[in-house]
Amino acid sequence: MDRLDFAIKLLRKVGYFLLQNWGKVDRVFTKSDFKDLVTDIDKESQRIIVESIKRNFPDEHIIAEEGIYEKGDRIWLVDPIDGTVNFVHGLPSFSISLAYVEKGKIVLGVVHVPVTEETFYAINGEGAYMNGERISVSGRKNLKECVGSTGNYPGFTGRLILSLDNRVRRIRILGSAAASAAYVGAGKFDFFVAKRISPWDVAASMLIVRESGGKVTDFEGNDANIDSRSFLFSNSLIHDEILNIVKTISEES
Ligand code: IPD
Ligand code: CA
Ligand code: CA
Repeated sequence: MDRLDFAIKLLRKVGYFLLQNWGKVDRVFTKSDFKDLVTDIDKESQRIIVESIKRNFPDEHIIAEEGIYEKGDRIWLVDPIDGTVNFVHGLPSFSISLAYVEKGKIVLGVVHVPVTEETFYAINGEGAYMNGERISVSGRKNLKECVGSTGNYPGFTGRLILSLDNRVRRIRILGSAAASAAYVGAGKFDFFVAKRISPWDVAASMLIVRESGGKVTDFEGNDANIDSRSFLFSNSLIHDEILNIVKTISEES
């Protein structure tokens, strides 16, 4: 079975399931702390994805946010709802992220945003696409014309926004790391900064951004990989400028 076709169809199917439950979740549980939520819908979304991978690719392994950590050379990385807080609150920015990784190398990535029906995807060496159209990062070089995004990391994000406020056109916080990073690939955002996030949040988007001509590093400026914890995604043209700001903030933390 064609992996890309499989992954796109699966995420679109799960997307319809999520839309039926969006903003209508009765039972919400906290995980590591009060900011970190999970619902029965996250679990059901993950169950559908995992069952489908196991049925179609029985020799491959899975790492999925809600409690699956298998080991192997061929791994699927699953975030069944990226942006659960938005999902619970009826806000539109949430996504499903699925990446296929061989020996640490990201081979395929799909991020689907159900509300806007945007499906972003990339295969290593074959470019990045949204709903069948080739995408590429923006060509903006001047920070004053840039619109960027960040995740939420207490103690860091506030200072990052203060520092960027006078230098860029706007900062947005969408609440889905996978979608925010994919938007860099599509040229909607010029950069996205995420501190301390997990491989399932960003593996698919990492490939999408690189395949659309962008750059993805950690906060030291090294090429990011799935084991990096903090990420700067950009159109590559403004990467160093944003990285310097991020480094200054990180050193102050
Ligand atoms: C979270 C979202 C959020 C980011 C957090 C992630 P979840 O994922 O991507 O935007 O700031 O760091 O954990 O928990 O909704 O899958
Ligand atoms: Ca996530
Ligand atoms: Ca999640």
